[in-house]
Amino acid sequence: MRSIDALVGLLIRPNAVLLLIVVVFLLIRSLKLASGCGAVYAMLRVLYRADFQYRCGGSSKWRSLHDYKVCKVVITGGSSGLGRSLVEEILRGFPDVVVFNIDIKASPQPNDRLIDFRCDLRSSEMLEQTLKLIKQSGGNDIRLIVNNAGIRSRYEGLKDVRGQDLEDVFAVNSRAPLRVIQELTPEEGSEEQCFIVNVSSSLGILSAAKVGAYAASKAALIAFHKSYAFELESKRVSNIRTLLVVPGQLDTDMFSGFDPPRQFFAPVLSKERLAAKILQHVDKGIRGDLTSPLYAKFAYLLMAMPYSVQSIARRLSRIDECLPDDN
Ligand SMILES: NC(=O)c1ccc[n+]([C@@H]2O[C@H](COP(=O)([O-])OP(=O)(O)OC[C@H]3O[C@@H](n4cnc5c(N)ncnc54)[C@H](OP(=O)(O)O)[C@@H]3O)[C@@H](O)[C@H]2O)c1
Repeated sequence: MRSIDALVGLLIRPNAVLLLIVVVFLLIRSLKLASGCGAVYAMLRVLYRADFQYRCGGSSKWRSLHDYKVCKVVITGGSSGLGRSLVEEILRGFPDVVVFNIDIKASPQPNDRLIDFRCDLRSSEMLEQTLKLIKQSGGNDIRLIVNNAGIRSRYEGLKDVRGQDLEDVFAVNSRAPLRVIQELTPEEGSEEQCFIVNVSSSLGILSAAKVGAYAASKAALIAFHKSYAFELESKRVSNIRTLLVVPGQLDTDMFSGFDPPRQFFAPVLSKERLAAKILQHVDKGIRGDLTSPLYAKFAYLLMAMPYSVQSIARRLSRIDECLPDDN
């Protein structure tokens, strides 16, 4: 078994669950606990379904990107990594969609439905100019915004973090997503629907040693996202939906160059698979959080534990020792 995620994935398949229930039932029948287990399982299923329905629900029916004749998607950082996988999947799966890609470099392959907006997100002037250009080229039809671009800070101790690096990492990872949302989302409560995806990181919750600046910028994005998502909820706005993506390590260049520890518990994610999962959420209008792999779902729980427990868990996971030095 490659990872605990794969093991759990196998176990929660309906047949495996049924088999497990039968085995457990037979084992503990004599203790008359089987019906209790069944009831707990049924209750968990009901809660899961109710949560799913809530996340998909809203005052108006959510329209898939397939339902539009003209439709635009704005993505940042779509020229490589996870962003590129998303762009490829969108171009392949949605033939009427035009993608606006905001990236510092051009897309690796031209496509009639892919328009590059070359922009260094570290520069607020360039970003403002790009947002103006996008609005002029049909800002009304934007049905999906993916704030994906990110940069990591150097692997270094907190005392070595330079002011300019800190500004850059916050500009790309936290300020740019906020400005894109402020400028490109439709009017709240209007007929125009728009789905917003913000790509953060599990490091934004479990900040590891030597990546303090990156982790802080991703934590800021989580805070912006949550504040906005629940602002929309409190105003009963349903034409704008939001999804927070909190991935662990991806198979891209950003965190390559070292051996990720404890891969059974913290497997490296495939960018193509994550892209496909994100687009499933977009298509059905499923808002909320998309956190993967499994350990990342328990990150908040770990951070709420007593300091000593956190310390032991971190030592066992080797999260604070695995990164090399960039200096
Ligand atoms: N990789 C991971 O393990 C991991 C884990 C959790 C979360 N994430 C997050 O997931 C997202 C995607 O990560 P990824 O691994 O796919 O990253 P990636 O492979 O480095 O791709 C990011 C894209 O953004 C572009 N970009 C970088 N700096 C930019 C700037 N200043 N202005 C405009 N575009 C810029 C990059 O261009 P260049 O290639 O020219 O730099 C690249 O095309 C990021 O937000 C990242 O923080 C990644």
